[in-house]
Amino acid sequence: MDWSPGHYERIAAQLMPAASVVVGTAAPGPEERVLDIGCGTGNAAVLAARRGARVTGVDPAERLLEVARERARAGELQATFIRGEAGAIPMADACADVVVSNFGVIFAPDPPAAAAEIARVSAPQGRVVISAWIPGGAISVLVRLRAEAIASASGSAGAPPPFAWHDRDALLELFAAYGFSISIHEELLAFRAASPQAFIEGELRDHPMWIAARALLEPRGELEALRDRALAALEAANEDLDGFCVTSRYVVVEARRRPAAVS
Ligand SMILES: C[S@@+](CC[C@H](N)C(=O)[O-])C[C@H]1O[C@@H](n2cnc3c(N)ncnc32)[C@H](O)[C@@H]1O
Repeated sequence: MDWSPGHYERIAAQLMPAASVVVGTAAPGPEERVLDIGCGTGNAAVLAARRGARVTGVDPAERLLEVARERARAGELQATFIRGEAGAIPMADACADVVVSNFGVIFAPDPPAAAAEIARVSAPQGRVVISAWIPGGAISVLVRLRAEAIASASGSAGAPPPFAWHDRDALLELFAAYGFSISIHEELLAFRAASPQAFIEGELRDHPMWIAARALLEPRGELEALRDRALAALEAANEDLDGFCVTSRYVVVEARRRPAAVS
């Protein structure tokens, strides 16, 4: 899945409050080496660079990397953005004091490989902070409706359930073998628009995943039905009678290496 098509930068702007929580939790200091995995347009990377950290962002989507580079240039920030994916990070062993990922690594198709790579690039006392959606709520419903429509149109069984990046036990299974302990806390993120209709139209126009769904469903005459179902779900969940707002729950995961036992 390439996240370059569309205008993901507009959607990414809505994730800035979460990026702020992730970077605030990781609290990189000046000169610390920060790696932002699945950096996209550079939300977390830019915030870490503003704190004086030495930042590298990694993402598979070349166009989003270019947006991130331009953002760093415009802010006169030192940050490097390179193409790569979580399961094969093009960086040296132990190169990062801090690894952050704002809803990025959760899209890696091979979570154990991503965890192994995070462990490999983390310095011995390195810390990792990841945000991950908690299933449930209107945006989850939209994602499920879209996946169902794609599976039905393509005649596939549908994707297997995603890895539970929000679940401490699942995360321990991934990271404990590398000496990490896990703690999580819960946060909320609001998505707003002028109306439920404006929200879904914006997703269909700008979000790479909706654009991919559109490309499959529109020629088959199946887009309208999905749009209607999505709109009904958004209207039912709308928290703002004068516009549109839905709140999504997410976790902030902190993985820290346990100090080595003294013998
Ligand atoms: C929801 S966006 C989040 C982007 C960014 N972190 C932010 O705060 O806006 C998901 C990002 O994960 C990236 N991504 C998808 N698959 C990936 C993978 N296997 N490894 C690393 N990043 C991936 C996408 O290209 C996209 O930029």
